Amino acid sequence: MGYLKWLGHAAFEAEIDGVKIFFDPWIDNPMSPVKLEDIAKADLIFVTHDHGDHLGNVIEISKKTGAKIVAIFDLCEALKKECSSIECIDMNIGSLVELDGLKVAITPAFHSGFHGHPVGFVVKGKETSIYHAGDTCLFKDMEIIGEIYKPEIALLPIGGWYTMGPYEAAYAVKLIKPKIAIPMHYKTFPVIKGSPEEFKKYVEDLYPATRVIILKPGEKIEF
Ligand code: NI
Ligand code: MN
Repeated sequence: MGYLKWLGHAAFEAEIDGVKIFFDPWIDNPMSPVKLEDIAKADLIFVTHDHGDHLGNVIEISKKTGAKIVAIFDLCEALKKECSSIECIDMNIGSLVELDGLKVAITPAFHSGFHGHPVGFVVKGKETSIYHAGDTCLFKDMEIIGEIYKPEIALLPIGGWYTMGPYEAAYAVKLIKPKIAIPMHYKTFPVIKGSPEEFKKYVEDLYPATRVIILKPGEKIEF
């Protein structure tokens, strides 16, 4: 059985088809339920962009576990310059590739970053498929991501200020049509005020077929 666990902010840990993955593991975030030393195993680490609240502890986790980092080409180049011993799989926006038996797509995200375009990821296994949207605004092509990759679980930023807020994120749910939507990237800092309850209410209005699950840091869902 696989699981998806929220580590606070945009950081998630998951196991799909026995492959241990992390998204944007900023383990030092103030809401994190785990410490860096608790992380013993990782196979793939997906990094959406290189703002500190996403790049977080990526290099330390990779060095310690041997996990491969997956990121857009330009960010991989920058990370390899910073640490030559890491293995970084450089992708770019647009295709579906196979990594450790999982199908992985890099999707666009509309945001900023120091190296390479910010992205999201769809990771598909037999047990489930997860779309981590990264930091982004709402964009109409989320509909295409939903139509062609059919993610069962969508992880969406709802905090506002730097990303979508609760209403825009609920509208994203209507475009993506996942079975489950999980809010992230809220209340870590004072300006990202978006409320998960408000997000849930908007989803109930706009696309009630999707179930919103509000996780507490450290909580997980199984599949
Ligand atoms: Ni950012
Ligand atoms: Mn961010």
